[in-house]
Amino acid sequence: MDCGLFLKRQPRQFLDCSRPELYLCKKLIMDLINPLVQQYAEAFSTPEDDLLREINLFTAKNHPEYQMLSGHLQGKLLEMVSRMIMPRRILEIGTFTGYSALCLAKGLTAGGQLHTIELRENDAAIAQGFFNRSSFSNRIILHIGNALNIVAGLNETWDLVFIDADKGSYIEYFKLVLPKVRQNGFILADNIFFHGQVLADEVKGKNAQAIIGFNEFIRARNDIDKMILTLRDGLYLMRKL
Ligand SMILES: C[S@@+](CC[C@H](N)C(=O)[O-])C[C@H]1O[C@@H](n2cnc3c(N)ncnc32)[C@H](O)[C@@H]1O
Repeated sequence: MDCGLFLKRQPRQFLDCSRPELYLCKKLIMDLINPLVQQYAEAFSTPEDDLLREINLFTAKNHPEYQMLSGHLQGKLLEMVSRMIMPRRILEIGTFTGYSALCLAKGLTAGGQLHTIELRENDAAIAQGFFNRSSFSNRIILHIGNALNIVAGLNETWDLVFIDADKGSYIEYFKLVLPKVRQNGFILADNIFFHGQVLADEVKGKNAQAIIGFNEFIRARNDIDKMILTLRDGLYLMRKL
């Protein structure tokens, strides 16, 4: 691999130093996925439906934190995973403008429901507007408030959970939801590479540190089967044993 500028000759300890192709370069840290590869993958995937495309464009045009939206490829993965599981109950922590909730809802089994939680009233109102225009308006239940308070009060057994809110609470969210996930149920957690910052030798940002802590916490557990998907900013995929 021609990385050009090496960030460090000594990669972080978890990397196998006998494999020079694992040396990190600045380019890799900034662009986790080669933009050409991203475009190619999008071009060869089913296009977004009209409503998802509208949410994507609306968020890009109107929201300063547009980069938080899952987007075409990750959205399609969420849909595919959900369709494979055919969940009766889905929990999403971190609604934003509603994009990922609508992707996940596509896999709901008959009579299934998706609960999604959003802290910010403005984002929740935007998401609710899009949910109302979808075919899932009666099956998506949007909760407004702090997920740390709301999750514990939801008396459901989850088939699928998507954790995508404040990074400092990921471990707490995991601890709160795991007892309520059915055996062989799945949990997905987003931004597991935190824009590549988890690979750096010195990590200063508190969100990046929180994600590193979460990743170590998950790695050490033996009550879940797990893998990291190298899509977009990294997704931890976990199955409850
Ligand atoms: C990365 S965005 C979610 C993106 C969305 N899942 C998607 O893919 O389109 C994170 C969202 O979590 C919300 N959030 C942050 N802290 C939260 C909390 N404690 N409880 C509920 N939502 C929270 C933020 O307001 C933000 O809208």
